[in-house]
Order: sequence, then C-alpha cells, then structure tokens
Amino acid sequence: MSSPASSGPLVLVTGASSGIGYELALLFAVNGFDLVATGRSGKIDAAARGLARYGGDVVPVRADLARADGVEAVWRAVERTGRPLDAAVLNAGRSIGGAFLDTDLDDELRLIDLNVTSVVHLAKYVARHMAAGRRGRILITSSLSATLPTPYETVYGPSRAFTRMFALGLREELKEYGVSVTALLPGATDSDFHARAGMNDTAFGPGMRKNSRKDVARQGFLALMKGQAEVVGGDAATRRSALRNRFLPETLKAARHARMARPRR
Ligand SMILES: NC(=O)c1ccc[n+]([C@@H]2O[C@H](COP(=O)([O-])OP(=O)(O)OC[C@H]3O[C@@H](n4cnc5c(N)ncnc54)[C@H](OP(=O)(O)O)[C@@H]3O)[C@@H](O)[C@H]2O)c1
Repeated sequence: MSSPASSGPLVLVTGASSGIGYELALLFAVNGFDLVATGRSGKIDAAARGLARYGGDVVPVRADLARADGVEAVWRAVERTGRPLDAAVLNAGRSIGGAFLDTDLDDELRLIDLNVTSVVHLAKYVARHMAAGRRGRILITSSLSATLPTPYETVYGPSRAFTRMFALGLREELKEYGVSVTALLPGATDSDFHARAGMNDTAFGPGMRKNSRKDVARQGFLALMKGQAEVVGGDAATRRSALRNRFLPETLKAARHARMARPRR
C-alpha cells in the first residue's frame, strides 16, 4: 500500500479505522492525499485497503494511543515517510457510559490517556514539525459534549472540553507559524461510538436519530480547509443545540444529559 514514488500531500488521521475518522480519511484520499491512517485494532488494515483504492499511498498503523509507546509508534510511522505532513487529524477517542459509582477507574484513566494525553503528546510532534515548515493544518475532534456537563458519561464530556480548548489555544499560538488548528464538535453521530461506550440501554442507543458520519466528516474537512477555528458537526438541530448551550445554565444542561444518558435498567 506504500509506494515511495507518490507525491501528493500527506495527512495523518488517527481513529481512521471506523466512524467519523474513516469518513475523514476517505475525504482526504478522494482529494489526492497520501495517508498515515491509525487504529487500535486490525480493522485499520481493511480500512487502509479501502482508502488506497483512490490511488494514494496509505500507511496503516495499528497502535494503542492510550499508551505513550503507541503514540511514539504513530509518530515514527510519520517520520519514516521522510515527508512533510500537510495535515493532521487527531480524532481517535471513546466514551464510557454508566454511573460513576459503578464504572471502572482504570478504564476511565485509560479514557483520559486516549482522549486527553495522547492528543497533547501527538500534537507536540505535529505542531513542532509543522511550525518548522511554516505550514500545515490540524483538525482536533472534540464534541458537542464539550459544551455541557455529561452525567453518566461523567469523564467523557470533560475530556472533550479539554480537546476543544486545547485546539483553540494551540490555534492562537500557531497562527504566526502559518499553521491552522480547527476543532470539530460533532453532535450524536451514527458510528460504533455509543455501543462501544456501553450505552445501548440509554436514549443514545440504537433507536436514536443521529447525524450522518459522512456529513459530520465533510463539515470537519471543509472547516479545516477553510482554516476555521471550530465547526459543529451535524444538522441544523445540532447547530441550534450548540448555540443554546452557550446560554443555558450548566446545571440545567447536566440534568437534561442525565435523563438521556442514564441506563434504563
Ligand atoms: N459518534 C458520536 O456520537 C461522537 C460525537 C461527538 C464526538 N465524537 C468523537 O469523534 C471521535 C471518533 O469517534 P467515532 O464516533 O468515529 O467512534 P468509533 O466509530 O468508535 O471510532 C473510534 C476510532 O478510534 C479508534 N480508537 C479507539 N480506541 C483507541 C485506542 N485506545 N488507541 C487508538 N485508537 C483507538 C478506533 O480504532 P479501532 O476501531 O481499531 O478500535 C476507531 O478508529 C472520538 O474522538 C469521539 O469522541 C463522536
């Protein structure tokens, strides 16, 4: 899947094996980018074969980003291309549903390692690399959950609030180096995300109407290319919800999210 002769622009996409990350990777592939595409499981190899159909180089990397050595392995794969990175999408992430009293502490600490620590770790390499070349675009996946407390996913929302503010802060710092940073805030989106979080017995389960992952990815891709600070991913109702969240009290938003995310049994 890798031919050194290829000379399109190069993008790194984490969490490219499924969901929003796969759709983002697809948009880059269709638009002539070569890819370093990462996932935690073997699914990334099949995803990479699909992405390579569009003619570019695709380097699949299987690495657990909740571990520092996984992040290092991903960056080594980028370095091994010997090429400048034109864009980076820091997207891999997960949630854990359930009452905080019941959820597993080690699992939650691993969530923070993935959703927060790995983003800082990888962004350090990406930002220095792009600043040295005085160009580049970085897309960091946050969430609409960054705009409210998220009871029954109590650790998840704050982890995405971190990525949102991290992206916006980094954006300001990197402006003078010609590097743009964009935060993507998807609303609830049709992917494996809620099932993996163990939330099928909540309002976020299979019956919920969710945003299309293709639409969310397209909105993120366009915002990145335009150099926007942030974009809400989803339909008009999702965008209205993001707007309302700016003004609603946190306590009210917490109570509303609890009603939706609390396990039914
Ligand atoms: N779906 C939503 O409703 C929603 C809403 C707002 C924000 N988001 C955000 O969107 C991003 C993508 O989520 P998604 O909806 O596309 O979910 P998804 O379909 O479950 O995809 C998650 C991706 O992250 C990878 N990943 C998970 N754990 C990892 C780990 N420890 N190390 C490396 N990679 C790991 C997965 O790889 P494997 O498949 O190989 O495990 C997969 O490629 C996340 O950051 C999430 O917070 C999602």
